[in-house]
Amino acid sequence: MVSVSASTAPQDALVRDRAELAAGLRRVPPRLPYRLLWDEHNTALYDRIREQPEYYLNRLEMQLLHSHASEVIAAGRARTLIELGSGTGEKALPLLRHMPTPATYLPVDVSTTALNRLADRLQHASPTTTVHPVAADFISPWPSALRESGRHPVLVTFLGSTLGNLLPYERRDLLELLAASITPGDGLLLGVPLLHDAQEMVSAYQDAAGLMEAFYLHCLRILNRDFGTDFDLDAYAHHVTWAACEQRVEIGLRALADQTVLIPAHPAAHRVVLPHGEVLRAAVAARFTPGQLDDELAAHGFRMVRRLPDPSGRYMLLLARLRE
Ligand SMILES: C[S@@+](CC[C@H](N)C(=O)[O-])C[C@H]1O[C@@H](n2cnc3c(N)ncnc32)[C@H](O)[C@@H]1O
Repeated sequence: MVSVSASTAPQDALVRDRAELAAGLRRVPPRLPYRLLWDEHNTALYDRIREQPEYYLNRLEMQLLHSHASEVIAAGRARTLIELGSGTGEKALPLLRHMPTPATYLPVDVSTTALNRLADRLQHASPTTTVHPVAADFISPWPSALRESGRHPVLVTFLGSTLGNLLPYERRDLLELLAASITPGDGLLLGVPLLHDAQEMVSAYQDAAGLMEAFYLHCLRILNRDFGTDFDLDAYAHHVTWAACEQRVEIGLRALADQTVLIPAHPAAHRVVLPHGEVLRAAVAARFTPGQLDDELAAHGFRMVRRLPDPSGRYMLLLARLRE
């Protein structure tokens, strides 16, 4: 089992998470905090979603990692790998295989279920790697376990299209945090889902097996169970749209009738009204053009080293380095 060193007491974390949930539901449009949607059930479901034929992103990224892992590691000579939003750690394996031994791997995730599975898997698949799982929010200041992470150079990876799940201001916060937390010369490898045919991009979140739908409907169960809301689980439907101006797929839950929902936030519980047809946004999945992130990276002190697109132009790995 992974030992979880939390920097926040459970009661403080609950107050903070409830406040974030309440603030999200008061936004226009209302929004569920993406970070809170990864319990044991949804973590296991995501493992199956990645294998669905419609979810091409995972397959393309995996192929790119297998093709370019040696080049990525050779370019930075990384000795320590930090993976943000690691999930079950499958994407680290091709990279670890090319790192000098003994390598250190620090997977970071809010899902302790994912981290526990990863620790088991890595022990078998990469026995010479020292694994230190860190249960943390990747957009919060790094805990000491990450800051004192081991030998340099470090390669930080952010894969699984998770970059696209951040709103633009969250993406900026993450890059700022990274630039302040790693050392000049350290590398950053991003998995970048690219802009292409709208129908195919939307279909990735509407698999025929209904697993994405189950993932997002389960979010309401999480909120009722862990945060004391009283969402009517039968009163919402899976909703996926392409928002062209924002260049992103938006995934949410549409109210099938007028709803009022109890929010047990501090200092007093209150009710939020969601009219018939209102969409609670649960996730965004932004898409990028190949050069779109260069300026953003440069503004935070990163130099673009290599763009590694897949031949179909639907996905890309981007390797950058913090300027020395
Ligand atoms: C889309 S999945 C990608 C998983 C894995 N990287 C892959 O490629 O299969 C996103 C992962 O990020 C984690 N996550 C989401 N928000 C997070 C946050 N704020 N801090 C840390 N982990 C987070 C989830 O638990 C989940 O494992």
